Amino acid sequence: MRSSRTLRLKTRLTTLVTGVAAAAALLLAAPASHAADTPLRDLGAAKGKIVGTAVTGSKLTGTYGDVAAAQFSSLTPGNAMKWGSVEPARGAFDWAEADRIVAFAQAHSQQVRGHTLVWHNQNPNWLTNGSWTPAQLGDLLQNHIATEVGRYKGRIAAWDVVNEAFNEDGTYRPTLWYNGLGADYIANALTWARAADPAAKLYINDYNVEGVNAKSTALYNLVRSLKQRGVPIDGVGLQAHLVLGQVPATLQQNIQRFADLGVDVAITELDIRMTLPSDGAKLDRQKADYKAVTAACVAVARCVNLTVWGFTDSDSWVEGTFPGEGAATPYDGNYAPKPAYYGIAEALGGTTAPPPTGGCKAVYSVGSQWNTGFTGNVTISCSGASLSSWKATWTYGAGQQITQAWSADCTQSGPAVTCANASYNGTVPDGGSVSFGFNANWSGSNPAPTVTLG
Ligand code: XIL
Repeated sequence: MRSSRTLRLKTRLTTLVTGVAAAAALLLAAPASHAADTPLRDLGAAKGKIVGTAVTGSKLTGTYGDVAAAQFSSLTPGNAMKWGSVEPARGAFDWAEADRIVAFAQAHSQQVRGHTLVWHNQNPNWLTNGSWTPAQLGDLLQNHIATEVGRYKGRIAAWDVVNEAFNEDGTYRPTLWYNGLGADYIANALTWARAADPAAKLYINDYNVEGVNAKSTALYNLVRSLKQRGVPIDGVGLQAHLVLGQVPATLQQNIQRFADLGVDVAITELDIRMTLPSDGAKLDRQKADYKAVTAACVAVARCVNLTVWGFTDSDSWVEGTFPGEGAATPYDGNYAPKPAYYGIAEALGGTTAPPPTGGCKAVYSVGSQWNTGFTGNVTISCSGASLSSWKATWTYGAGQQITQAWSADCTQSGPAVTCANASYNGTVPDGGSVSFGFNANWSGSNPAPTVTLG
């Protein structure tokens, strides 16, 4: 096994050789990045927790791969193991991305959470458009489970066997499976999964079941009855697609009540979205929310895994799914850890708060954005400190290019941007702030960088 220290070093070296300008930005950024000395996976291990992330198989190289390997002890394929991905045409299987993720995980001593076997979404058209008798439908499902679980037998720590079985009011969701097979499709799927890989932990997974409510109580009652019937069920997955400032107050209590049934609990898809654009106050709130969720898991011994649904804002489903919302993950689009990262780390016992630069900080925001360009703003503010001159640096990760700046002298070399104060605004008094602005071009995506003050 490669040590995580080696991986961290490799990350730094890879960045260093990408160019002198990038190296300069890296060195300035060093205090914040260096503060994350102990990777999340090691902090988690000290607390008996696996810390995971959803991943996209094709991205597992370069910085994305380095961070995924160094920081996380579990990977969940974000899409690669869904039925529509693995059997797009009947009998024609495509395991390439799933295989790649499993191999990557093995190479980096990581667990894999298999996701997901029985769901109403992302099924192949041949399946959803077919008309099947209950017996045919049951055979299809049993074969699917036997094939997929069997393929990865011994290599999957846990399977999300059934995903999103309930409506918000706690009744069963009327899916292809429920409508065709009745509620026992759940017990049958679990039994078939156990037969195909007796060592894998078998989970039921859902969203909006993080707090105590009608839906989570229905799930609780189901798990209790499955246990009573002797149906194989090992765990409950709380997806935790949360909204900023809305971590349920009953999260820990809810985790505990499932644990008391004699099953494990995992936070399986954590992200915490905010209305865009992000700003310093929202990112601080997000840190507190990530910390609260992590702390609730830490507080319950049977909460065994905390997985984020994508570790970087450049690989999150949120912006495409919830218009106007985003910035939901612990890393920004340029792989810089956000306050949220430190929220997780602190709840896992790490002492990682990034030291403020002499009590002064720089916050980056996008004002307006159109198809090819945008206007950006950086505000430098001081509290308990002051500046007589300043320099703000950042690295653009998606090819953004500054065309014009005002109230600062900005230069850009490759991805590295340096903006120094103009002759008239170098002074930032204690309790005061200075802003500068710029126009820039973008295409594809426009993730916000982290600004370092030098
Ligand atoms: C999402 C993926 O992240 C997206 O890439 C895809 O387009 C849609 O599905 N609950 C789940 C996950 O259980 O499988 C979903 O993943 C997010 C919601």
